[in-house]
Amino acid sequence: MRLQVLEDYEEMSVKAASIVASQVTLKPDSNLGLATGSTPLGMYNNLIKMYKKNLINFKEVVTFNLDEYVGLPADHPQSYHYYMFDNFFDKVNIPPEKIYIPSGVGDDLKQICKKYDQSINSHGGIDLQVLGIGKNGHIGFNEPDNKLRTNTHVVKLTEETINDNSRFFDSIDDVPKKAISMGMSSIMKSKKILLLASGEQKAEAIKKAINGEITTEHPASLLQLHSDVIILVDKNAAKLLATTNT
Ligand code: PGA
Repeated sequence: MRLQVLEDYEEMSVKAASIVASQVTLKPDSNLGLATGSTPLGMYNNLIKMYKKNLINFKEVVTFNLDEYVGLPADHPQSYHYYMFDNFFDKVNIPPEKIYIPSGVGDDLKQICKKYDQSINSHGGIDLQVLGIGKNGHIGFNEPDNKLRTNTHVVKLTEETINDNSRFFDSIDDVPKKAISMGMSSIMKSKKILLLASGEQKAEAIKKAINGEITTEHPASLLQLHSDVIILVDKNAAKLLATTNT
């Protein structure tokens, strides 16, 4: 794991965007694994700026998103489909047919999950996976548990995650209780992983991910087993780390 501690959220976002841009420059047809949530918003904004300045071209890029809420249609403002188009896809030139996000709506969610894995595999897996981290150590919606699922699957969200995500909804009762999440296998098979965390509320999760024991009860700790992980954190998220750079 390579850890870089940046001054603040903006510096972290600029750095994250430059890593994604380097990936796309070196391999224009990269398969990017993308994340939602508050954390990557600054990275997306910086990528959009770079695109507008002709510093990056996404026309051959393929994207796979980590997750989607079960029951929210693509046009629901809190769906991750909506988030991705609103915050990124509508502002850059990734061809729509190269954008993959699991649908949270359908009669046969198991089939949706299976097809999602087939799409990832038929493209040869993910070159660079961007990840946020939950306060409970989840990555994607792979929640702490005594076992983790390898493939894309339907997951019951933990109380903590429902609480954390309620800030985006009118009321906690509106937060979906289930989601579809890419499994640990696709994440761990990604050639490169970029984990982002900002703010003191993530400090404990980051400490456990980097220095804690490797356990399914803290899914991000499994990243210690991956050979090419870059972790970018701001100073607040690094607060509980013994060393600031490794
Ligand atoms: P956040 O979510 O970026 O909104 O903090 C991260 C996550 O839960 O994975």
